Amino acid sequence: MTQFEWLTHDIDFVVDKIKKNLTLFQETVPPAASVDLVYAPEENTDWTASFWIGMLFLVKELTNDPAVDPTIEKQLASFRRRLEKDIALETHDIGFLYTLSAIADYQVNQRESSKELAVKAADRLMERYDPKTQIIQAWGDLNDEQQRGRMIIDCLMNLPLLYFASAMTGEGKYKEAAYTHAKQTQRYIVRDNFTTYHTYYFNPKTGEAIGGKTQQGFADDSCWARGQAWGIYGFTLSYNHTGDHTFLETAKKLADYFIDCLPEDKICYWDLVFHDGSGEERDTSAAAIAVCGLLELAKQLPLTDPKKDEYQAVAVAIMKTLSKGYTSVDSPQSNGLLLEGVYDKKSNKGVKECMIWGDYYYVEALVRLTTAWYSYW
Ligand code: GLY
Repeated sequence: MTQFEWLTHDIDFVVDKIKKNLTLFQETVPPAASVDLVYAPEENTDWTASFWIGMLFLVKELTNDPAVDPTIEKQLASFRRRLEKDIALETHDIGFLYTLSAIADYQVNQRESSKELAVKAADRLMERYDPKTQIIQAWGDLNDEQQRGRMIIDCLMNLPLLYFASAMTGEGKYKEAAYTHAKQTQRYIVRDNFTTYHTYYFNPKTGEAIGGKTQQGFADDSCWARGQAWGIYGFTLSYNHTGDHTFLETAKKLADYFIDCLPEDKICYWDLVFHDGSGEERDTSAAAIAVCGLLELAKQLPLTDPKKDEYQAVAVAIMKTLSKGYTSVDSPQSNGLLLEGVYDKKSNKGVKECMIWGDYYYVEALVRLTTAWYSYW
């Protein structure tokens, strides 16, 4: 029996459910969050559109089943069209969108056309890099005064698109922008106690740092669980692509804080200020991101680092609870995979629902634990 034999029935379950969804999501995609645990099809316009095709590539890696290929083709065409027609791309999440579509296809199928698509998407993302503030603007039109000068921790996951573009073209500008943005994130979004702000503002005219605020967390000075999870994973990725050891150290500190806040069953509440007995919801999507981040972090640490085994063990413990108590295996009406995610509690948007990125990272974690996966990020 292999170490992760217990995941076999989970893999069968997710592969089966994803394949059942193939008829519903051909050119359309699942939305960010389910309603009553069901994803209804929508156009490819949100920041979350690539998690579906990303899951299809993961199913391909798990099963080599050609059944997913026609949908992958349609989805890729849709991402090509989105870039050509510039549909809803006023966002830094171009990184998520084209990492899990174009880069993943290049990794899995080695198609040059996908490499070119990824580089074009990186060019579009580069338009959002502002040399004055040295950040990539998170949201909105570049001329919108309300939106200028703001970065958010999630953006660390958008940087691999830029690192990829430099690796493929030999042009350093993409990597330099990504590196500079990651350094600004490390300097301003990470607090002295290794909790994190969700968002941080700069004066776009002078470049001066103004201060941190939250968008989806409980309070400006609390620690939004998903933000901390993006940070664990994202700083580790910036270490992978730049070799800057301080990113690895920061990822470890963020991981330590996250682990210290875990409740009894190891599934974090949606903000790390909440603990057992608070009556607040958990966020399984943050838990799934953290599993992948901790596994990547453990992989990067040398054998001599005592934290290596700890991070791996915590990741596996979280997976055990997710697998036992939080999948839709007993909710046949649901076309999602992971129950009890929270998108935005304060706006009452997607609370105790399936999150499409939660599903994606859950499947990524299954792939990480059972195959020699080389990462799209
Ligand atoms: N990147 C947006 C979120 O995590 O909700």
